[in-house]
Amino acid sequence: MRTNEDIISLSQIALSLAGPDKKPTHILHDISLQVQAGSAISITGASGSGKTSLMMLIAGVEKPTSGKIIIANTDITHYDEDQLAAFRRRNIGVVFQNFHLIPTMTAYENIEIALELAGFENCEQKARESLKSVGLEQRCDHYPDQLSGGEQQRVALARAFATQPKVLLADEPTGNLDSENGQQITELLFQLVDEFNTTLVLITHDSQLAAMTDRQLVMKDGVLHED
Ligand SMILES: Nc1ncnc2c1ncn2[C@@H]1O[C@H](COP(=O)(O)OP(=O)(O)OP(=O)(O)O)[C@@H](O)[C@H]1O
Ligand SMILES: [Mg+2]
Repeated sequence: MRTNEDIISLSQIALSLAGPDKKPTHILHDISLQVQAGSAISITGASGSGKTSLMMLIAGVEKPTSGKIIIANTDITHYDEDQLAAFRRRNIGVVFQNFHLIPTMTAYENIEIALELAGFENCEQKARESLKSVGLEQRCDHYPDQLSGGEQQRVALARAFATQPKVLLADEPTGNLDSENGQQITELLFQLVDEFNTTLVLITHDSQLAAMTDRQLVMKDGVLHED
């Protein structure tokens, strides 16, 4: 793939969701965004401004009310649930603030299942290599509640990168970590992004972290601005 190609292309996206009284809540307004393959962007903005909602659209978890979403040359705007799920497993990695590991599975199993769902072969070996890449080969058989917060996030990073997604979406990946662990996760995240030439969309409240990306964007009341 040419490196100057847009891997994410959002055209005039709007998102409204039904709130508690069934009246629509207008969350995102007329968002257009192009992100070059292999680049890193950050999105900051006040709580409730719509950052996670935008991420859910790019991840193919939520569908836009209007507008068009093209990811990796694929127009996913009108994909149904099954098509979106298959697309996600192949193209998108996600890391959340709360790690989102499956509590009843070990560190190794959490990664292995992601590889299996994505249709990979040699899942066992790949899962072990992924854990090694984040320095946790000694913690394979630990369950999430037997790992520290920083370690859980390292497993989540290993899982997200194991399938070598084209796009990695990270929503406050250091938000639940102390500064030392946050620093380690940040370094690891950027190291993995470089290694795999992954496109990164990073949502953060941390302006220092945001400054590490190629482009800084700000969400204000559902409208995206270039900083
Ligand atoms: N399912 C839903 N139905 C209606 N409104 C929703 C729904 N989900 C989120 N919202 C509203 O959409 C707005 C944007 O939410 P979103 O989670 O995208 O904000 P955010 O920028 O990620 O905030 P934070 O920094 O606190 O994580 C909020 O006002 C929220 O109340
Ligand atoms: Mg959010």
